[in-house]
Amino acid sequence: MEQTEMELAHIATLRSIAPECMVLLKSDGSFPLGETGKIALYGSGARKTIKGGTGSGDVNVRHYVTVEEGLENAGFTVTTKAWLDAYEDIYNAAHARFAAQMKETIAKEGFSALLKAMGAIMPEPDYALPLNGEGDTAIYVLSRISGEGTDREVRPGDFLLTQTEIRDILQLQRQYKKFLLVLNVGGVVDLTPIAAHVENILLLSQTGMTIGDSFADVLLGKTYPSGKLASTWASWADYCHIGDFAEQDDTHYREGIYVGYRYFDTVGKAPLFPFGYGLGHSTFSWVAESVQIEGSEVRVTAKVKNIGNRSGKEVMQLYVSIPDGKLDQAYQILAAFAKTEELAPGGEVSVLLTFDMRSLASFDEESTNSILEAGDYILRLGNSSRSTEPVAIVHTDKTHLVQRLSNSGGKCGFEDWKPQHSMKALTDHVPVLHLNTVVEIVPKPIPEDPEAQMLVKALTSEELAYLCVGGFRDEGSQSVIGNAGMKVAGAAGETTSMFLDKGIPALVMADGPAGLRISLEYGVDENGVYCLDAGSMESMLELLPDGMVSVLREKFGNRQERNGTVHYQICSAIPIGTALAQSWNTGLCEACGDLVGREMERYGVHIWLAPAMNIHRSPLCGRNFEYYSEDPLISGKMAAAVTRGVQKHPGCAVSLKHFACNNQETNRFRSNSLVSQRALRDIYLKGFEIAIHESDPATVMSSYNLLNGEHTSQRSDLLETILRQEWGFQGIVMSDWVTGGFSSTKHKYPMACASGSIKAGNDIMMPGTAQDHQDLMNALSDHNVHYPITRDHLERCAVRLLRLAADLHTTL
Ligand code: BGC
Repeated sequence: MEQTEMELAHIATLRSIAPECMVLLKSDGSFPLGETGKIALYGSGARKTIKGGTGSGDVNVRHYVTVEEGLENAGFTVTTKAWLDAYEDIYNAAHARFAAQMKETIAKEGFSALLKAMGAIMPEPDYALPLNGEGDTAIYVLSRISGEGTDREVRPGDFLLTQTEIRDILQLQRQYKKFLLVLNVGGVVDLTPIAAHVENILLLSQTGMTIGDSFADVLLGKTYPSGKLASTWASWADYCHIGDFAEQDDTHYREGIYVGYRYFDTVGKAPLFPFGYGLGHSTFSWVAESVQIEGSEVRVTAKVKNIGNRSGKEVMQLYVSIPDGKLDQAYQILAAFAKTEELAPGGEVSVLLTFDMRSLASFDEESTNSILEAGDYILRLGNSSRSTEPVAIVHTDKTHLVQRLSNSGGKCGFEDWKPQHSMKALTDHVPVLHLNTVVEIVPKPIPEDPEAQMLVKALTSEELAYLCVGGFRDEGSQSVIGNAGMKVAGAAGETTSMFLDKGIPALVMADGPAGLRISLEYGVDENGVYCLDAGSMESMLELLPDGMVSVLREKFGNRQERNGTVHYQICSAIPIGTALAQSWNTGLCEACGDLVGREMERYGVHIWLAPAMNIHRSPLCGRNFEYYSEDPLISGKMAAAVTRGVQKHPGCAVSLKHFACNNQETNRFRSNSLVSQRALRDIYLKGFEIAIHESDPATVMSSYNLLNGEHTSQRSDLLETILRQEWGFQGIVMSDWVTGGFSSTKHKYPMACASGSIKAGNDIMMPGTAQDHQDLMNALSDHNVHYPITRDHLERCAVRLLRLAADLHTTL
């Protein structure tokens, strides 16, 4: 099929923006190269480049450009074809062994095998191949993949480097005149053994379908990397190990608010590469031109100058050290950031960094209010968290009430860790501004919707129960994760089509966040739409026992048995969430949202199951690549920008996910995150709150996990009190996929259920099963069940669903 105009336009956009998501970690000035020539190319990601992670976050594309291909497209001669061929053979043999082992282990485990296979990662093999490629310049592309269902492990070939990688990288650094280590990874790899020895390191990240071409552009200096880390890179030993991680049943977030750089900066540990850090091909100077406060709004103007000899962009970052008072505080937190336009050598520009002092408020568990305590707030300006200068103090004499909140989210049963002493003393002389009054935040009540209320009254309770469950077909389970849609091939699910004659449309939902995940090709025959293959899930099927594969093939569609007309849905893979965040450019994120919105309109998808915005609590979370950052401000701002980009398209909406504290994949349906209310509010909910206030997303997806002993979809204090009453969210909450249904004697906690979720204000169970519907009907009639419900509960959810359906449909 010919490339369409939209496809070509999207490829061009992605090629040009990807470099903004790449972070130059080390440079001795040997790169960019300036001209093509011979390249000795090595490493796992050279030919098997990874565009994004696995699972529901993977996107089915027609083609993506590998690093090898990108270099050749640009005119380089790759002198290591023999090495790349030999590596491919080694990889394939290792993969065949891995698949055979997986098949054997999971054959014994039934359905849970599917979940295991989804996130199963083969660690990099060890091998010895000669490093004898011709040329002065060598490039080593190190790759790692991870995905849904499994957390990463601190072992060679995953979080750690293998012996082969360490040996080869160090050898190449010595052997070639110019050497560049390229990291084609979605998250952190512990670079301790090599970081000090390698002079040039580029975090290429996983930037979607144009990754190889975009890399070649950077290598040739046609453009430049201008990203900054959105999470701290450190050695495994240095990360915070105060709380636990990836526990089967209960995971204790004992570190409280000290997540990521908040921990490193507070305890004074130097990471390998700090939060906010990134070089460019040029260097910049900056100075605070003015610092003002008006009401509670702080405005800092920074003048930035390119003092190097190549073009580039710089990111100014404003951190604040909040005074310790009744509440302990991290050394500093990010309060605002701004990326410059492109500056030519000698060029300068003023950028404005602005924030409201109220955004620095902390949750006080005693009063259940958010407060700003009295004292000196030190403003620090710089181009990374570890390279700042104090520019002003905002002083306030008294403690201010910012918002009256509630005792919500349950109890974790422990006291959060607190640092021993504070390191915030300031010796520099800087201007002092005064914060006098703070206007208390009072949320607006959510308006009623009489029209939807009337419609709902006319439905029977059974009909309401159908409305609150996704569009399942009674004859079979639609529950294969990420592929339960019927209208749009490969979509993840849809709302019920039962009431089309009553004017209630069905809404189609498809995954993200690294693009729109639907089938690349599909067939249509007299029985409707069917998939031709499992798309990006094909590689997962290789790991499953044969019997299970044939059942799934049936589900995904069967090319041999159906002979309808074949159609195409050409979608783009955009940079993964972490890479988008590394751009520190909200305009870029909005452009990516806009691109996805265009594809949604084109293929008839109403709700994109993205942005994904859980916090990088541990670098081992298998889905971190989908998420933005360890910092809630970055997460919230980026998600808001993506949301604005998508929702500017008529009939298109997003779903912020996974709400909340879904920070590990281990036992993801039943793991209990134990989190203090302070850490919950100030770290884990903050990003969602920002995105909701700044972009009005139409939907939110609750998470699989429990929060302090109750599933998030079953916590009305989370969904009704915090999300709706305190934040004013007016959209719907959907469950994550297939929350109910699988009982297990192996686990401490059950899975969530439809009755518990609907009762708590989780409006719809997705993708929906007959069992969900049955559960609701039982809960209506039998008051002895665990979560009895009334018709009012169903009506409340149904009204919200109808409002959303009307909004998305009337704008089409
Ligand atoms: C994932 C979600 C995804 C959904 C639909 C779930 O397993 O956790 O992120 O949107 O499947 O594919």
